[in-house]
Amino acid sequence: MKILAINGSPKMNDGNTALILNPFLDGMREEGADVELFYTRKLNVGPCNGDMSCWFKNPGACGQRDDMQMLLPKLAQADVIVWASPVYYSGVTGPLKNLMDRQLPIHMPWKQDSRRQTIVLVSTCGAWELSTFDPLLAQMNAIYNRPGANTNFAGALLRPMAEGLKEMIKAGEMEKVEGIFLAAKEAGRQLVREGKISEDLQRQVSRELMPRDAYYRAAQQMAEQAQKSMKR
Ligand SMILES: Cc1cc2nc3c(=O)[nH]c(=O)nc-3n(C[C@H](O)[C@H](O)[C@H](O)COP(=O)(O)O)c2cc1C
Repeated sequence: MKILAINGSPKMNDGNTALILNPFLDGMREEGADVELFYTRKLNVGPCNGDMSCWFKNPGACGQRDDMQMLLPKLAQADVIVWASPVYYSGVTGPLKNLMDRQLPIHMPWKQDSRRQTIVLVSTCGAWELSTFDPLLAQMNAIYNRPGANTNFAGALLRPMAEGLKEMIKAGEMEKVEGIFLAAKEAGRQLVREGKISEDLQRQVSRELMPRDAYYRAAQQMAEQAQKSMKR
């Protein structure tokens, strides 16, 4: 099984998104999947120029010469595509959106793909509220559950309060959060075995770490401390 994962976080492997994505991919590897991971930050992918030549003048080909030439066949041939991104202003990061837009040459509405592709979203955000991911989920559903799409949106690993999660790890409170990473890993294994991720595992990845007020109070205190140490 070919898995193509694209992480749109500028922090790449050091970011919160990687905290969830990496065990998920490890779980898939454990089940024998062939996993390729790219970071948008390391790729040279410009925005779509919108001329639609990839549909009309040169069907299936993009006129722009950059890393999309290498990525388009991988995107077309992957059994599973994992889009991974922090939430930036209620969406995926700009570079990841650019890359998604550039798939146009392989998504012609009159050319139905005979292969059924599976899609997963992995995302993290700073806010406490799980509803922060609603716009990203709406986008995934609009793309992959539209009429005629031969795709299976298999689920999403969503981690709100991700900055709090990172702080808990730094504070050595690993035992309080390791269930999240175990669930992400199991989700990877399950996806390869069963082609989907159970609601229960998705819930475990998103589970509440602390009450809302306590979370935002701690965030405020951290910001105040950071400003004080800057002034020193
Ligand atoms: C420019 C920018 C915009 C952001 N927008 C949101 C947002 O709309 N909602 C939210 O909850 N967090 C937002 N965040 C916080 C990130 O989503 C969060 O810290 C995430 O876990 C970072 O992931 P990373 O470490 O993998 O980059 C934003 C962060 C930045 C830098």
